[in-house]
Amino acid sequence: MMSRAIFSSLAALLLLAGCGGQQQDAPETGVSQRTVVTTAETMEWILEPQADVIWDNAGFIIDAQGETDLAPTTDDAWNRVVYAAATLSEAGNLLMLPGRSAGADWNEYAAGLTAAGKGALDAALRRDADALFDAGGNIYQVCRACHNQYWAEGRRD
Ligand code: HEC
Repeated sequence: MMSRAIFSSLAALLLLAGCGGQQQDAPETGVSQRTVVTTAETMEWILEPQADVIWDNAGFIIDAQGETDLAPTTDDAWNRVVYAAATLSEAGNLLMLPGRSAGADWNEYAAGLTAAGKGALDAALRRDADALFDAGGNIYQVCRACHNQYWAEGRRD
């Protein structure tokens, strides 16, 4: 009886601590946000497709046929990179919304994504292929860093 009472008040404390933590992480916007997709769907439907646009348009492919420069060659192609980079950059903010954020480290990775995405955006606006390649690498590092901490642990496959 006694131990059950202690257990339930401990559980209540833990619950309270969890809620408090989330509220502290919530941005003070004064409006309530309603997320629509899960974190996994955010990854699959927002982050991954936009990151692919950047990675597919940066660097070189070297194979038996020789060297192919992936850098955009038309204004339209550069603009598609601009749109992808802007989306990816803002996606960092989406990851910090209450209900998605998993705490301080998570928010740092999310902010890193915004910064790396902004680097790609600036590069695409300047039509700077070298800078876009570097920004693509930075984006990749941020994806990996967050996955190492928050995904790899929970992965069973
Ligand atoms: C702030 C942390 C964070 C960042 C940054 C992040 N991810 Fe993720 N990602 C996760 C977590 C957590 C999961 C596991 C989600 C789950 O299974 O519920 C995941 C899963 C995924 C998945 C698998 C989704 C599925 O269908 O199960 C893909 C694809 C993915 N991430 C792509 C990316 C790409 C590309 C980037 C960088 C542009 C990125 N992620 C950046 C946290 C992050």
